[in-house]
Amino acid sequence: MSQDIETVLLTEEQIEKRCVELAKQIEDDYNKEGEVPIVVGLLRGSVPFMAELIKRFTFPCEIDFMSVSSYDGTESIGDVKIDKDMDLSSKERAILLVEDIVDTGRTLSEVKKMFINKGATNVKIVALLDKPSRRVVDIHADYIGFEVPNEFVVGYGLDYNQKYRNLPYIGILKREIYE
Ligand code: XMP
Ligand code: MG
Repeated sequence: MSQDIETVLLTEEQIEKRCVELAKQIEDDYNKEGEVPIVVGLLRGSVPFMAELIKRFTFPCEIDFMSVSSYDGTESIGDVKIDKDMDLSSKERAILLVEDIVDTGRTLSEVKKMFINKGATNVKIVALLDKPSRRVVDIHADYIGFEVPNEFVVGYGLDYNQKYRNLPYIGILKREIYE
């Protein structure tokens, strides 16, 4: 375990087991709907999670990535800027957004709106983690891996100053690292 980690919240085994369940659930839904979705990973945090999911999908899908950054607005509205847009067109397509964590909910709420404005027919969200205690925007994620407490977590794609994304587990970062 990295010496900067206080506690391991979720082991690699727990995460992989949950990804199997999520992939099955997602697959059942898309098989029913008969759509070929574009699975869109939000860079960079979603990469390990997205890899675990898509290798288990047996339905036809396309994959793409985009990168956004969010700025807290003065009050309730977070502003989201596209740093790198996806390459495929989302017009008249079903989109499955893959995110590492839903925190305040601002990022996903804005990104979902963007897709709807661009003519996507259906936008679903899968997030590895959910921190419901921090929510300020009412956003519904269709699939969630795990709920986590209000602690700063890293690993499995999640970073602090771009570090720790490579850890194969999710852990609580020691406070002394960021305080
Ligand atoms: P929202 O818009 O839902 O933002 O507030 C979600 C984004 O915030 C980041 N985030 C975290 N990153 N550990 C991290 O490494 C955390 O505990 C954490 N909480 C929020 C993350 O980039 C996510 O995409
Ligand atoms: Mg992020």
